[in-house]
Amino acid sequence: MQVIKEVSSLKEQRSSWTHPVGLVPTMGFLHEGHLSLVRRARAENATVVVTIFVNPTQFGPTEDLALYPRDMDRDLALLEHEGVHAVFAPPASEMYPEGYSTWVDMDGVTSLLEGALRPGHFRGVATVCNKLFNIAAPERAYFGQKDAQQVAVIKTMVQDLNMNLDIVVAPIVREPDGLAMSSRNAYLSPTERVAATVLCRALIAARSLRMGGCSDAGAIRTRMSDIVKEEPLATLEYATVVSPVSFKDLGSVEGSALAVIAVRIGSTRLIDNMLLD
Ligand code: PAF
Repeated sequence: MQVIKEVSSLKEQRSSWTHPVGLVPTMGFLHEGHLSLVRRARAENATVVVTIFVNPTQFGPTEDLALYPRDMDRDLALLEHEGVHAVFAPPASEMYPEGYSTWVDMDGVTSLLEGALRPGHFRGVATVCNKLFNIAAPERAYFGQKDAQQVAVIKTMVQDLNMNLDIVVAPIVREPDGLAMSSRNAYLSPTERVAATVLCRALIAARSLRMGGCSDAGAIRTRMSDIVKEEPLATLEYATVVSPVSFKDLGSVEGSALAVIAVRIGSTRLIDNMLLD
């Protein structure tokens, strides 16, 4: 497995890769969710490239960039074991050298929910993904459904900018008690870890209401927020039902609908989502 830190080296290596190439962009501190993307990419491509880059431009000034969990040695061992061909792990100065000045901005989906609560976040995500796509030139790139709004942003960017790759979305991987896997789960204390199941419990309740015939998105929202309010360690940021494409709130649920939730457990911010159809 090659470990590459420079854009120029990666571009040189690229000509020796067998196609198709599958790219799995990550910020490291890998868990089973990431590994499910890697395995899918391995099954569908001749060459698999994983990127490990804690992208500073998608963190706000008050967010957890410095504290974001990192374990490069462990990540590399896991990826080697999965048969990954190359890992691109650049320093920030390689991706954003002095004088860097180009950004991918988007209207619509980036202004809602995560976009509204984390100004600039999706600008950073879209920019870094665009750069990674240009650097690695993959035929496919793999993302987890856990970050559903990020998926909508990336798909919109790829379509609007006529990019030549397919975006593959893999299902959320959950712990046995339902908690969606996330690198940020590492911040939770043992009591917070138990409380964190509230996100999944609220989403399951939303889906049960829908399966029972409820099409009133307002009633589903109320049920989710009531469940979160019952959990003393949880502070609700949002719990709503949206279109999985535009992320606009739905009034009534007829076709495709996504329940989305963001909750703070102590100081850790977690997100999760579930399709209601
Ligand atoms: O989902 C993530 O880990 C990041 O947002 C991504 C896609 C690797 C971009 O930095």
